[in-house]
Amino acid sequence: MPPGWPGRRPGHIVILTGAGISRESGLDTFRDAGGIWDRVRIEDVATPQAFARDPARVHAFYNARRAQLPGVQPNAAHLALARLERAFAGDVLLVTQNVDDLHERAGSTRLLRMHGALNRARCTVCHATPAWTGPTETDTPCPACGRAALRPDVVWFGEMPLHMDEIERALARCDLFVSIGTSGTVYPAAGFVTIAGERAETLELNLEPSDVSSRFDACRTGPATLLVPALVDELLGG
Ligand code: APR
Repeated sequence: MPPGWPGRRPGHIVILTGAGISRESGLDTFRDAGGIWDRVRIEDVATPQAFARDPARVHAFYNARRAQLPGVQPNAAHLALARLERAFAGDVLLVTQNVDDLHERAGSTRLLRMHGALNRARCTVCHATPAWTGPTETDTPCPACGRAALRPDVVWFGEMPLHMDEIERALARCDLFVSIGTSGTVYPAAGFVTIAGERAETLELNLEPSDVSSRFDACRTGPATLLVPALVDELLGG
């Protein structure tokens, strides 16, 4: 068990990841210096109002991020979490705020992508969510219904994140909650530690203290590619 905790071996682990876990794969975070929100305004590309006002601009923003995916690889942190899922005797649920596909490509399957996915599109008419690797444009036809009504299958500010019922059930029954690479600034994810902390041990792994570090039982600072494999070794008794 990670040092600093009672010797209770966890049986149900919930892990939350944010943009920091993909940083060492070469994908930008949002709020670090030089991050995505330093270059473009949330109000212009990541709200339903932005899409209604200028859909071409929103498509272009997500097309550029989707186009990065083939050029990046899962890093040691993504791979360690997939190893944990395979080897851990108990139950591991991975909840990610990220819309990249690096957890899937690393081999994680018990994965909930609460903010959607760059490698899917969504039809605003028939609600199909086809896998998508190329660009989407305002006139791109939905493969299911043919209507030129596609949007990125990403949850925008002001929209409800996905899988919340399943996430909240898992948080209520877990005995270990680990947050990795997130600034703890966006809810509901930033509040997960409070829900889990009712009965679970809570641990934050982050390059620097987050906005919610004080709510965790333990915090470790450093790069995810060092901290996450080390934690997985501890949890697997390595
Ligand atoms: N290893 C670990 N942590 C890192 C690393 C690294 N190599 N590099 C950066 N970090 C940390 C930063 O210190 C920061 O606390 O990752 C965190 C990234 O924070 P944000 O950029 O705010 O990203 P995130 O927390 O995932 O944002 C949450 O906000 O904009 C919305 O929908 C978007 O899902 C996103 C949500």
